[in-house]
Formats: sequence, structure tokens, C-alpha cells
Amino acid sequence: MTAHTFPSHRGVMFYRCLGCNAEHGTDDLLYICPRCGAVLLLEDRRFPELRGKGGTYWRDLFDARAAAKRPALRGIFRFYEITAPVLEEEDILYLGEGNTPLIAASPTLRRLIGRAFAFKNDGQNPSASFKDRGMACAFSYLRAAVRLRGWDDVLTVCASTGDTSASAALYASYAGGPIKSVVLLPQGKVTPQQLSQPLGSGARVLELPGVFDDCMKVVEFLAARYRVALLNSKNSWRILGQESYAFEVAQALDWNVDKVCLFVPVGNAGNITAVLHGFLKLHRLGVIDALPRVFGVQSHHADPVYRYYAAPEAERVFRPVEVTPSAAQAAMIGNPVSFPRVRALAEQYRAVAGERAFQVLQVTEQAIMDGMLTANRHGHTACTQGGECLAGLRAAVAAGLVDEDEFAVLDSTAHALKFMDFQNLYFDDAFPSEYGIKADPALVNAPELLFSSKERRGPDENAFVRESALRIARLLGLTETGGG
Ligand code: F0G
Repeated sequence: MTAHTFPSHRGVMFYRCLGCNAEHGTDDLLYICPRCGAVLLLEDRRFPELRGKGGTYWRDLFDARAAAKRPALRGIFRFYEITAPVLEEEDILYLGEGNTPLIAASPTLRRLIGRAFAFKNDGQNPSASFKDRGMACAFSYLRAAVRLRGWDDVLTVCASTGDTSASAALYASYAGGPIKSVVLLPQGKVTPQQLSQPLGSGARVLELPGVFDDCMKVVEFLAARYRVALLNSKNSWRILGQESYAFEVAQALDWNVDKVCLFVPVGNAGNITAVLHGFLKLHRLGVIDALPRVFGVQSHHADPVYRYYAAPEAERVFRPVEVTPSAAQAAMIGNPVSFPRVRALAEQYRAVAGERAFQVLQVTEQAIMDGMLTANRHGHTACTQGGECLAGLRAAVAAGLVDEDEFAVLDSTAHALKFMDFQNLYFDDAFPSEYGIKADPALVNAPELLFSSKERRGPDENAFVRESALRIARLLGLTETGGG
């Protein structure tokens, strides 16, 4: 097989229940185990056969595929055999997701933080967040179901803090035909940019007073009683697609992730599930020979996973928390549906790589905003959740958790532009008191008006240009060269 042909290998996928270990076929779209109600993960019965080929085979194939010209192999399905090797090329929906850049911290930022690190800019996905990785996979599965089983009416639903809905609406509107999108949002708790996305894609947008956790319960209820396709990360096809984040990090570092640690913001905990599962797969396949360390990061205003792991092992009980307003609003979730997945995978991860290989950190709202603005003043495009990762790295360095020779990869899960209202609140030092965020004047920026419109009098365009230029020159202390 060459890297440019569509793979001929096919797997045999099934849902594995993380509660009772039962296995279920994939003919139906399942979100929870029909036997015990626990969450599921997708596995491939033929995965062990892939191991026989050896790590070099897979590294070479995935590297060669990075230049693939077939659209179906250009995104997350570059890693077809370890993603969803049951989909046909005609079903694969590619809108340019994946392959996002890993951008080294600017030299000044690196010095400021005291460690070498990079941002992986997942905001450079088509709907400007990492969710597109998972949607590409979930919608490809839906298209296969439509083709094979003749599903003639597929109503997709999701609850969202803004990015899942933007992504679901985008992919649904592209897929078209019988596939339609409905999104349920907590009113006033997604940014205007995020709200504009499903509206622009033509989705049905429903709002409820409350927070994300309320909306999640409603869509879970709907999915249990009605014929709808749930697109939250409870849908395991989404997790599969999001594993590509781990594969790309390993590939960008030339498959050497020893001495690497990742920082991942945790909300509904789908992303960190995918990151852990993705690296475990690469390790089992022999593609990487060490697991990188993974730090989950949570705001002190939405930190149930942090609290769980902060307790002594014998006393750990998972308790949802009531969230309070957070600038990392996309991750402002008190009862993450994927928590049981994290618990199961973290155990496997630690069994391979030790206790230090998986940890969860808590950061303040202040540190999140300072983190975002500091990153972006140094040439990055971090969203507030990316800022949360930088806050996490800072906290980890301060606590002595990151060795001097370690390299950190920070997940900027969305594009900065989606979260501009938080930047504006900071610059105006106008955060409502619940956030507990004060502006650091060193990070504030504002436009300077050179003329008021009243001052700009007369039709003389030349005089206006000249006067403006003189004001700018004075303001900036420019030196005259004597020309014109
Ligand atoms: N960062 C961004 C930009 C997000 O949109 C989300 C989650 C997270 C981080 C947290 O990731 O949930 O996988 O732990 N957003 C979901 C949504 C909940 O509805 O858009 P997670």
C-alpha cells in the first residue's frame, strides 16, 4: 500500500462499556451501555494485528501520508487504521480539520516562563476549535449510517458551551441531505462569536436559562427517549476523532515524546479522554516508546476533576460542583460526562508511566486571563482555555513539577477571536466581581484616538494628513529624515 491510496485494511469496531466491560456492536449509535448505563469507548478487535507491523512501519506510513493528496486522508484520517478503520472513503467528511500547527513559544515568552514550550493552535480548525476533529469522525460515521442503513432523517443534537455547537452546525450544514442540526445553549453563557456560528450555519438554535450542565441533562434525556443523534463527547465517535490531537503532537515531535508534558484544559473531559487514549494507543502500537506526561488544568471556579485527584487515593469520591463564572467559559462545567473515562484511562496511563504521568492542576481566574493576554502579547493566538494551559504550566513550574529539560505542549483549544469579550472586559478592568479578575496595567491595551471628529474640520485633505502624521510623529517620538 502506498501512502496515497485509501487504506484497504478494515477493523472490527465495537463499544466497550467502562462500567461492566460489556461489548456492543456499532450498528446502533450508543452513548451509554444498554446493560448498566455507564459510558463507552470504541475499540477495534483487530488492533492487535496492527502491532505486528512494528513502530517503524506506522511512523513511516503516517509521515508519508502527511503529503497525501486525497482529501479523505489529509485531516484526522491520516491515522485511519487507528481511528475508525470501518469508514469508506466516500463517507469521510473533510472540512480542513486537523494538522494544526505547533508553534514554539516566542523567545521572550520562553524566557519569561522559564521552560521550553509550544502552543498547539487548535483554533486553526475550520470552526476555530478542536471540536472539529471529533465532528469530522462523528459525521463520517453518520454519513456511513445514512448510506448503509438508509437513515432518512438524522436530527443531531448537542448541548454546548459554544464550540461543540459551532462545529456540529458547520458539519451538519455541509453534510446536508437527511442530516440536520439542533443545538442547545445556556443563554448568555456562550460568546457572541460562538453564538453567531451555528446561526450562520443555519442550525436550529435553542437556549435555556442556566449553565451547560443543565443543557447537558436535557439533551441526555432527549437522547434516551427520542430518535436523535447526540453529538456531545458522550458519543464515542467524537473521542476517536479527537485522539488525532495526540497523534499529531507525537508526529510533530518526530515520534519522540520522552521528556514531553502536555497541558490540557478540562471541561466535559472529552478532550483529555482522547489525549490519554490516543497516547496509550500509540504506545501499544510501538509508535512511541515512552508516554508523555499529561496535566489536566481546571479553573478554581469549575474544578471537579482537580478536586477528585487532590484527595488522598483512599478517600476519592467524585462530586459534581456548582460552577461560578469563568473566563475559561468553554470549560465551565461542574459535572463532566467523561469523568469515568478519565478515571479508567488515568489508571491505565499511570500503570505504564507512573503516578507523575497524569496530574490535574487548579488555576485561578486571574492566572487564566493573565495567561491568555501574556501569550498573545508574544505572538500567539491563545483563547482563554489556552491561557488556562499557560497558567497551568506556570503553576507546575512554580510547584517544581516540570523538569528543566522537559518540553511542554499547551493546547490552545480555540481561536483567541472567539473570546474577545473577555479580553475587552480585562482591558476595561470591568470584570464582574464574581470572576475575581483585576486588570494588570502592564497587560492592558487600548486604541488612541488622534483626532475627535469635531477636531477634524475643513475639507482640506492634505492638511488633515499632515496634521495626523505630525501628531503621530510627536506621539511616537519619531526622528525627521528631512525628506519631502
Ligand atoms: N476548550 C474549549 C475551547 C472548549 O470549547 C471546551 C469544551 C474545552 C476546552 C473543554 O474540553 O469539554 O473536552 O473537556 N467545550 C464543550 C462545548 C463543552 O460545548 O463546546 P472538554
